[in-house]
Amino acid sequence: MLRAALAATVAVPAALAGAPALARTLTAGTGTPPLTPPCDDGDDPTPPQTEGPYFKPNSPRRTSLLETGLPGTRLTVSGYVFGLACRPIAGALLDFWQADAGGAYDNTGFRLRGHQFTGADGAFTLTTIVPGLYPGRTRHIHVKVQAPNRPVLTTQLYFPNEPRNNTDTIFDPRLLMTVRDAGGAKEAAFDFVLAVPQEPGPGPTPPPGGTWAVGTAYRAGDRVTYGGRGYLCLQAHTAQPGWEPPSAPALWRAA
Ligand SMILES: [Fe+2]
Repeated sequence: MLRAALAATVAVPAALAGAPALARTLTAGTGTPPLTPPCDDGDDPTPPQTEGPYFKPNSPRRTSLLETGLPGTRLTVSGYVFGLACRPIAGALLDFWQADAGGAYDNTGFRLRGHQFTGADGAFTLTTIVPGLYPGRTRHIHVKVQAPNRPVLTTQLYFPNEPRNNTDTIFDPRLLMTVRDAGGAKEAAFDFVLAVPQEPGPGPTPPPGGTWAVGTAYRAGDRVTYGGRGYLCLQAHTAQPGWEPPSAPALWRAA
Protein backbone atom coordinates (compact mmCIF):
# COMPACT_ATOMS: atom_id res chain seq x y z
CA MET A 1 0.00 0.00 0.00
CA LEU A 2 2.66 2.47 1.05
CA ARG A 3 4.87 1.43 -1.81
CA ALA A 4 2.09 1.95 -4.31
CA ALA A 5 1.28 5.35 -2.89
CA LEU A 6 4.89 6.42 -3.11
CA ALA A 7 5.18 5.18 -6.66
CA ALA A 8 2.15 7.24 -7.62
CA THR A 9 3.71 10.25 -5.94
CA VAL A 10 6.89 9.85 -7.93
CA ALA A 11 4.97 9.59 -11.18
CA VAL A 12 2.92 12.71 -10.46
CA PRO A 13 4.82 14.97 -8.05
CA ALA A 14 2.16 17.67 -8.24
CA ALA A 15 -0.31 15.23 -6.73
CA LEU A 16 1.65 15.15 -3.50
CA ALA A 17 -0.78 16.28 -0.85
CA GLY A 18 -0.79 20.03 -0.52
CA ALA A 19 2.36 20.51 -2.56
CA PRO A 20 2.35 22.98 -5.43
CA ALA A 21 3.94 21.84 -8.63
CA LEU A 22 7.54 22.75 -9.13
CA ALA A 23 8.11 26.17 -10.66
CA ARG A 24 9.84 24.71 -13.65
CA THR A 25 6.82 22.52 -14.31
CA LEU A 26 4.50 25.49 -14.01
CA THR A 27 6.66 27.55 -16.29
CA ALA A 28 6.67 24.88 -18.94
CA GLY A 29 2.95 24.31 -18.72
CA THR A 30 1.59 27.83 -18.63
CA GLY A 31 3.92 29.78 -20.84
CA THR A 32 4.81 32.11 -17.97
CA PRO A 33 8.12 33.79 -18.78
CA PRO A 34 10.89 32.19 -16.74
CA LEU A 35 12.29 34.23 -13.90
CA THR A 36 15.89 35.30 -14.08
CA PRO A 37 17.67 33.59 -12.51
CA PRO A 38 15.25 30.65 -12.36
CA CYS A 39 13.60 30.02 -9.02
CA ASP A 40 10.74 28.16 -7.47
CA ASP A 41 7.29 29.72 -7.60
CA GLY A 42 7.97 31.94 -4.63
CA ASP A 43 5.53 30.55 -2.09
CA ASP A 44 7.04 27.09 -1.98
CA PRO A 45 10.21 26.96 0.14
CA THR A 46 12.48 23.95 -0.11
CA PRO A 47 11.00 21.35 2.26
CA PRO A 48 12.92 20.24 5.35
CA GLN A 49 13.98 16.67 6.00
CA THR A 50 15.37 14.74 8.92
CA GLU A 51 18.99 15.40 9.82
CA GLY A 52 19.70 11.69 10.29
CA PRO A 53 22.26 10.33 12.74
CA TYR A 54 25.47 11.36 11.00
CA PHE A 55 25.66 15.16 11.09
CA LYS A 56 28.79 16.59 12.71
CA PRO A 57 29.30 20.29 13.44
CA ASN A 58 32.47 22.19 12.61
CA SER A 59 33.03 20.78 9.14
CA PRO A 60 35.91 22.33 7.18
CA ARG A 61 35.16 25.28 4.92
CA ARG A 62 35.70 23.97 1.40
CA THR A 63 33.82 23.69 -1.88
CA SER A 64 35.52 20.45 -2.90
CA LEU A 65 35.26 17.29 -0.83
CA LEU A 66 37.63 15.39 -3.11
CA GLU A 67 40.73 13.89 -1.56
CA THR A 68 43.60 11.94 -3.01
CA GLY A 69 42.63 8.33 -3.45
CA LEU A 70 38.94 8.88 -2.74
CA PRO A 71 37.05 6.37 -4.90
CA GLY A 72 33.78 7.18 -6.57
CA THR A 73 32.16 8.87 -9.55
CA ARG A 74 32.98 12.57 -9.60
CA LEU A 75 29.96 14.81 -9.03
CA THR A 76 29.41 18.54 -9.04
CA VAL A 77 26.27 20.02 -7.51
CA SER A 78 25.59 23.63 -8.38
CA GLY A 79 22.73 26.04 -7.99
CA TYR A 80 21.46 29.09 -6.18
CA VAL A 81 20.01 29.94 -2.80
CA PHE A 82 16.94 32.14 -3.17
CA GLY A 83 14.51 33.85 -0.85
CA LEU A 84 10.75 33.91 -1.24
CA ALA A 85 10.85 36.58 -3.93
CA CYS A 86 13.31 34.52 -5.98
CA ARG A 87 16.09 36.94 -5.36
CA PRO A 88 19.48 35.37 -4.61
CA ILE A 89 20.77 35.30 -1.04
CA ALA A 90 24.41 36.24 -0.71
CA GLY A 91 26.48 34.79 2.11
CA ALA A 92 24.16 31.86 2.76
CA LEU A 93 25.81 28.95 4.57
CA LEU A 94 25.63 25.48 3.00
CA ASP A 95 26.95 22.56 5.06
CA PHE A 96 27.06 19.26 3.14
CA TRP A 97 27.69 15.75 4.40
CA GLN A 98 27.31 12.43 2.66
CA ALA A 99 28.28 8.76 2.54
CA ASP A 100 31.33 7.58 0.60
CA ALA A 101 31.12 5.35 -2.47
CA GLY A 102 30.74 2.35 -0.19
CA GLY A 103 27.82 3.87 1.72
CA ALA A 104 29.79 4.76 4.86
CA TYR A 105 29.92 8.08 6.74
CA ASP A 106 33.13 9.29 8.31
CA ASN A 107 32.14 9.78 11.92
CA THR A 108 35.65 10.22 13.29
CA GLY A 109 37.03 12.75 10.80
CA PHE A 110 35.51 15.05 8.20
CA ARG A 111 35.82 13.06 4.99
CA LEU A 112 32.99 14.07 2.62
CA ARG A 113 31.91 16.89 4.92
CA GLY A 114 32.31 20.58 4.19
CA HIS A 115 30.67 23.95 4.38
CA GLN A 116 30.72 26.96 2.08
CA PHE A 117 28.96 30.28 1.53
CA THR A 118 27.10 31.56 -1.50
CA GLY A 119 28.66 34.41 -3.42
CA ALA A 120 27.09 37.79 -4.07
CA ASP A 121 24.98 36.17 -6.80
CA GLY A 122 23.63 33.52 -4.41
CA ALA A 123 25.40 30.71 -6.27
CA PHE A 124 27.18 27.68 -4.87
CA THR A 125 29.10 24.75 -6.32
CA LEU A 126 30.00 21.56 -4.50
CA THR A 127 32.58 19.19 -5.94
CA THR A 128 32.31 15.69 -4.54
CA ILE A 129 31.52 12.09 -5.49
CA VAL A 130 28.23 10.29 -6.01
CA PRO A 131 27.31 8.95 -2.55
CA GLY A 132 26.99 5.20 -2.15
CA LEU A 133 23.93 3.36 -0.93
CA TYR A 134 23.49 2.05 2.59
CA PRO A 135 20.75 -0.14 4.02
CA GLY A 136 17.33 1.42 4.30
CA ARG A 137 17.94 4.56 2.25
CA THR A 138 18.00 5.68 -1.34
CA ARG A 139 20.92 7.72 -2.69
CA HIS A 140 21.08 11.17 -1.06
CA ILE A 141 23.22 14.07 0.08
CA HIS A 142 22.54 15.82 3.39
CA VAL A 143 22.69 19.59 3.62
CA LYS A 144 21.99 22.43 6.03
CA VAL A 145 21.27 25.80 4.45
CA GLN A 146 21.07 29.05 6.36
CA ALA A 147 20.65 32.63 5.21
CA PRO A 148 22.51 35.14 7.39
CA ASN A 149 20.76 35.51 10.75
CA ARG A 150 17.92 33.20 9.74
CA PRO A 151 16.88 29.69 10.88
CA VAL A 152 18.68 26.63 9.53
CA LEU A 153 16.99 24.53 6.84
CA THR A 154 18.03 20.89 7.22
CA THR A 155 17.20 18.77 4.20
CA GLN A 156 18.45 16.15 1.73
CA LEU A 157 19.00 16.05 -2.03
CA TYR A 158 18.08 13.10 -4.22
CA PHE A 159 19.05 11.58 -7.54
CA PRO A 160 16.52 10.81 -10.28
CA ASN A 161 16.00 7.30 -11.64
CA GLU A 162 17.14 5.58 -8.45
CA PRO A 163 15.18 2.35 -7.86
CA ARG A 164 15.14 2.93 -4.11
CA ASN A 165 13.43 6.31 -4.50
CA ASN A 166 10.21 4.30 -4.69
CA THR A 167 10.72 2.52 -1.38
CA ASP A 168 12.53 5.08 0.78
CA THR A 169 9.87 6.61 3.04
CA ILE A 170 11.97 9.75 3.59
CA PHE A 171 12.39 10.42 -0.15
CA ASP A 172 10.60 13.55 -1.44
CA PRO A 173 10.43 14.21 -5.19
CA ARG A 174 10.53 17.95 -4.55
CA LEU A 175 14.15 17.43 -3.50
CA LEU A 176 15.28 15.73 -6.71
CA MET A 177 18.30 17.27 -8.34
CA THR A 178 18.57 17.42 -12.10
CA VAL A 179 21.53 15.22 -12.96
CA ARG A 180 23.32 14.68 -16.24
CA ASP A 181 26.30 12.63 -17.37
CA ALA A 182 29.41 14.60 -18.15
CA GLY A 183 32.16 12.43 -19.59
CA GLY A 184 32.25 9.81 -16.87
CA ALA A 185 31.33 12.29 -14.17
CA LYS A 186 27.96 13.67 -13.09
CA GLU A 187 26.72 17.26 -13.05
CA ALA A 188 23.77 18.02 -10.81
CA ALA A 189 21.78 21.18 -10.21
CA PHE A 190 19.46 22.23 -7.42
CA ASP A 191 18.15 25.61 -6.30
CA PHE A 192 17.16 26.16 -2.68
CA VAL A 193 14.31 28.48 -1.77
CA LEU A 194 14.50 29.60 1.85
CA ALA A 195 11.53 30.96 3.79
CA VAL A 196 13.14 34.38 3.87
CA PRO A 197 10.90 37.36 3.10
CA GLN A 198 12.24 39.54 0.32
CA GLU A 199 9.76 42.36 -0.11
CA PRO A 200 11.12 45.53 -1.64
CA GLY A 201 10.30 47.41 1.56
CA PRO A 202 12.68 46.13 4.26
CA GLY A 203 15.90 47.24 2.56
CA PRO A 204 17.70 50.49 3.33
CA THR A 205 15.60 53.43 2.24
CA PRO A 206 17.32 55.62 -0.32
CA PRO A 207 17.77 59.20 0.80
CA PRO A 208 15.12 61.67 -0.37
CA GLY A 209 15.52 62.58 -3.98
CA GLY A 210 17.29 59.37 -4.99
CA THR A 211 15.94 57.37 -7.90
CA TRP A 212 17.76 54.10 -7.10
CA ALA A 213 15.24 51.50 -5.86
CA VAL A 214 15.43 47.93 -4.64
CA GLY A 215 13.85 45.48 -7.07
CA THR A 216 14.53 47.57 -10.16
CA ALA A 217 16.18 45.81 -13.10
CA TYR A 218 18.97 48.11 -14.25
CA ARG A 219 20.88 47.85 -17.47
CA ALA A 220 24.41 48.96 -18.25
CA GLY A 221 24.33 52.65 -19.01
CA ASP A 222 21.34 53.42 -16.79
CA ARG A 223 21.72 56.45 -14.55
CA VAL A 224 20.33 56.89 -11.04
CA THR A 225 20.75 59.21 -8.13
CA TYR A 226 21.45 58.04 -4.59
CA GLY A 227 22.29 60.16 -1.60
CA GLY A 228 22.42 63.25 -3.74
CA ARG A 229 24.97 61.83 -6.19
CA GLY A 230 24.59 60.50 -9.71
CA TYR A 231 25.68 56.97 -10.64
CA LEU A 232 26.17 55.12 -13.92
CA CYS A 233 25.22 51.42 -14.10
CA LEU A 234 28.19 49.31 -15.22
CA GLN A 235 26.45 45.94 -15.61
CA ALA A 236 22.90 44.71 -15.77
CA HIS A 237 21.44 43.51 -12.47
CA THR A 238 18.36 43.72 -10.28
CA ALA A 239 18.91 46.03 -7.34
CA GLN A 240 18.74 44.48 -3.90
CA PRO A 241 19.45 45.60 -0.35
CA GLY A 242 23.20 45.84 0.15
CA TRP A 243 23.87 46.71 -3.47
CA GLU A 244 23.37 50.46 -3.07
CA PRO A 245 25.44 52.38 -5.61
CA PRO A 246 28.04 53.68 -3.12
CA SER A 247 28.72 50.16 -1.82
CA ALA A 248 28.68 48.24 -5.13
CA PRO A 249 31.56 49.57 -7.24
CA ALA A 250 31.29 46.59 -9.60
CA LEU A 251 27.76 47.68 -10.47
CA TRP A 252 27.82 51.49 -10.20
CA ARG A 253 30.31 54.25 -10.90
CA ALA A 254 29.83 57.75 -9.55
CA ALA A 255 29.10 59.96 -12.52
FE1 LIG B 1 22.27 9.72 5.14
